[in-house]
Amino acid sequence: MITADDDEPLHGILYTKPPSSEILKALDYLAIQPKSFGHGSRDASKPKVLPSGVTEYLTSIISSSLAWLESDCLREEIWDIASARLSERAGRTAMPSLSRLFHIPTSSGEEFSLTLHEPSLTSDNLGMKTWLSSYLLSRRLHFIFESVPELVNSDLTSSSSGTRLRALELGSGTGLVGLSFATLQGPSASIHLTDLPAIVPNLASNAALNSELLCEVNAEVTTGVLDWSTPPASAPSSEERYDIILAADPLYSPEHPRWLVQTIEPWLSRSLHARAVVELPLRDAYLPQVEEFRKRMEEIGLAIVEQGNETGYDDWEDADGESVEVHCWWSVWGWSEKL
Ligand SMILES: C[S@@+](CC[C@H](N)C(=O)[O-])C[C@H]1O[C@@H](n2cnc3c(N)ncnc32)[C@H](O)[C@@H]1O
Repeated sequence: MITADDDEPLHGILYTKPPSSEILKALDYLAIQPKSFGHGSRDASKPKVLPSGVTEYLTSIISSSLAWLESDCLREEIWDIASARLSERAGRTAMPSLSRLFHIPTSSGEEFSLTLHEPSLTSDNLGMKTWLSSYLLSRRLHFIFESVPELVNSDLTSSSSGTRLRALELGSGTGLVGLSFATLQGPSASIHLTDLPAIVPNLASNAALNSELLCEVNAEVTTGVLDWSTPPASAPSSEERYDIILAADPLYSPEHPRWLVQTIEPWLSRSLHARAVVELPLRDAYLPQVEEFRKRMEEIGLAIVEQGNETGYDDWEDADGESVEVHCWWSVWGWSEKL
């Protein structure tokens, strides 16, 4: 009915006074679900919906009295669903809260799943959503720690901790990278997931949401506030520093490169095996910040140990209903004098 093969304008459907079951079915077809990252194609199980006319159709439902339907209750339900469908079309910022399942591979070729809650997004709370870079970095983590074997071996004679490797995530958002790291490392590491005060409650609740899996692998996860714009009052001691610092998609304002690097510098352990692992989307508008970040990292004495580019797809389509390809750059940094 609402397919590419059918030219009937959607808003015309209401003139036939269809039964509630027909309208509900149409509204179900029109639901936009977040796509999984990395897939450029739409859900083939659903008929293709022509974008033209959808907004008019939804608006006509909302403005109709739906007088031919049996009950007020049914009318309310249909108006609510039609409003939700309109919101979904206004982009991710208008989406209601949702929970999503992410599948992360391990080095043995198996996968584990993390469930993350994403409250509805507002423009100043970007950490309420899970971004492509964190998905790509999470799926890459097992490779990174395989190719830097000293990070996974317990032979950490110059590590700042006794038994567990100490890791810190900056700008964790919903926590995908940090929780993936914790699950992959199990008892060999602890990780502190951090973000701004408004983001940490959801981050902590996402850690709790996955506590069964984290317990199973004997992971150690804590969450807390760490604002990059406020340097630590006093230099962290060598015990307080971290062996590994992780960050995904942390640069989107002119201050971010300076703030991020000024946070990595005091908190990264000075050990031979200390590593900062960062994944950044190469979006045109932020390329100068990526360059500034690279320069500032080198200025504090860090050098790239390993790097690469990879491509994924945003989980929201553009205005034409097309998947948006995003190129990302991942990099692993160590202290240059120790390499
Ligand atoms: C684009 S989001 C990325 C979130 C997550 N890493 C991901 O990729 O899904 C950027 C994150 O950086 C955090 N952030 C921005 N400025 C910050 C600051 N000054 N201190 C700490 N975190 C900050 C935001 O709250 C947000 O969670």
